[in-house]
Order: sequence, then C-alpha cells, then structure tokens
Amino acid sequence: MLKIENLCASYHTIDGQVHVVKDVHFDIFDNEVFGIAGESGCGKTTLLRVLYDIIAYPLQIDSGRVVLSGEKKGQPFHAETGNIRKAWWKHVSYVPQAAQSVLNPIMKLKEQFLDSIPLSDRGEESKEQTLARVQAYLEELSLSPDVLEAYPFQLSGGMRQRAIIALATFMAPSLILADEPTTALDVVVQRGILMMLTRLQKQYRNTLVIVSHDMGVHYQITDRIGIMYSGSFVELGPTAELFAEPLHPYSRMLISALPVVGDKSQRVGIPGRPPSLKDPPPGCRFAPRCPQAFERCTQEVPRFIQVRPGRFAACHLLKEEVGAHA
Ligand SMILES: Nc1ncnc2c1ncn2[C@@H]1O[C@H](COP(=O)(O)OP(=O)(O)OP(=O)(O)O)[C@@H](O)[C@H]1O
Ligand SMILES: [Mg+2]
Repeated sequence: MLKIENLCASYHTIDGQVHVVKDVHFDIFDNEVFGIAGESGCGKTTLLRVLYDIIAYPLQIDSGRVVLSGEKKGQPFHAETGNIRKAWWKHVSYVPQAAQSVLNPIMKLKEQFLDSIPLSDRGEESKEQTLARVQAYLEELSLSPDVLEAYPFQLSGGMRQRAIIALATFMAPSLILADEPTTALDVVVQRGILMMLTRLQKQYRNTLVIVSHDMGVHYQITDRIGIMYSGSFVELGPTAELFAEPLHPYSRMLISALPVVGDKSQRVGIPGRPPSLKDPPPGCRFAPRCPQAFERCTQEVPRFIQVRPGRFAACHLLKEEVGAHA
C-alpha cells in the first residue's frame, strides 16, 4: 500500500535546519492497522504529513520518497511524493491531530460534506441525492443523520470527531492516516471511536495508520507497530510479538510504563527527556537515557536491521538475522 524509502525531512527555523524525520524506511501493507508510537515531539505528526504529502514551508523533504499504490474496484492506482494530492479523499485520507479545528465553525455539517465530495464523484447526482448517500453512510456508522443539520459547536467533542472520521472515510479511501484520533476524549468516547475506526477498516478492507502516544491504544487495535524515537524508528514489528518481547531498550521501557489492571506496584517511568532535535547526541540518540548503553552507542548510529523475520530494530545489542536485510 505504502512504501517509505529512506525518508529524511526537516523544518527551517531561525536557528537553522532541524531534522525531524531521519532515515525512515518501511512498508505499510494492504488491509493492516499500523500504529506509530513514541513520546511527544519525536516526529510522528511530521512523518504523517510527509506520508500524506502536505509539504509546505517550513517543512521540506531532504531525501527519499513515499510511494502509494494499490487497487480499488479492480482499478490500480499509483502516486508518489509530489503528486499524492491527486489521490486525496478517493485513495488516501487524513484525520489531522486536533482535527476538531478542521471543521468550519460557521458551516453546517451537511455543507462541509458536500464541499468535500468532488463533483466528479457526484456525477449527475442532485444535492439531495448526494446528501441521502451521506445520510445512509452516517447511519451505517451509527451516527444520527441529525448531525448534518448541526453546526460544529452544537456537537460534543466525541460526536465531532466521529463526524470528521465519517467525512474522511465517506469515499472509502484505501488508506486512512489518523493522527491521535482519540486524544483529549474521555475513555468511553475513545473506545467508541477506536471501535468505529476498526469496524470501518474491517468492513471496507482498507489500511489504517494510527498515530498515538498511548501504547494501550496500539495494543488494542494495531496489527503492527513502529516505535519512533527522536525522528527515527527504533523498532518495528507485529504488535503482539513486540509487546510480548520488545527488542529495543526504549520499547521495553515504554511497555513497562503501562499500567496493568490489578497490579498495585508502581509503574516505572522513563527517566530523562528525549534529546533536542536541533543538536542531537552523536551515536544512538537513545543512549543518554539507555540503561544498557556502552561506549559504541555514544559513537556510532545503530543501523535499523531485521533481527527476526518481520522484526526490525536499531540497537547495538542486537544482531542482524543472517541473510536478511532491513
Ligand atoms: N512548523 C514547525 N517549525 C519548526 N519545528 C517544528 C514545526 N512543527 C514541528 N516542529 C518540531 O518538530 C518536532 C516533531 O514535532 P511533531 O509534531 O512531528 O511531533 P509529534 O511526535 O507528533 O509530537 P506530539 O506527540 O506532541 O503530537 C518537534 O520538536 C517540533 O518542535
Ligand atoms: Mg503529533
């Protein structure tokens, strides 16, 4: 579905260029739920913007590219960095972080739906016929069609987020990129939204990429997960395997910081803070916080290697599987 090849991206700032995405290289497969995890500021949103091809100053791509390809209703499609925009809505859609602000506050939702559906998709349809299709879709998602007559401020945060997801998925895109879709919502609403996303994914057999700093969300709904640290993936693999046996010391710390029901012992947080992206440490960027760091870690950047089939990590403590390439 998506091939990400040696991607590097940076922001221009008054202090110079800040490299926020660094040598990211991975694939996202058809019909999977892929999670991107990592602490605040590690570059998750920036990576997603690059995947969706919203590159505008001060963000720039320094190297690499993203290739989107697949098939919809028997028709192949292909787009890559620079022209992914032509596949927006129809093949790929994006639910931005703090998505609530993407809705126009002075337009009823029905107008926002009509605005987002390209005329080419409406064909000879009248406005009423298009709205009837939207209504049927909302009902399918267990959303009351009444939301169409509402202004965004009349809806609760959870309803607004559902409406945004409905808007982003109405054209049944093959790929949905969702950035922190449940952050800032209470746990019950959060659960409802996650269920809505996974139900859609199963029903339409599309691919869902979900960014969240909440490892619990990843554990619940993702098939594979990539853990980002300071602009790069430090580990990537099937979620169940990664949670059962994390390979990278950072993944291990993230997972052991998760609360366990019934366990009253204190959870261990991760000491220290991620390094500044402006002036990162040489060698492994996690080394200053890593309990297992040794001399080589402060000198040499570890390669992102395949340690076992389907399991990738970047750590000097790990050995590459013989004959495998990341
Ligand atoms: N427009 C910008 N100009 C300069 N630097 C930026 C800009 N946007 C983001 N950054 C920097 O890029 C880094 C990564 O930001 P990004 O928003 O991608 O992180 P994130 O992992 O999504 O964080 P969060 O979990 O808080 O959403 C941060 O250090 C941030 O300060
Ligand atoms: Mg973000």
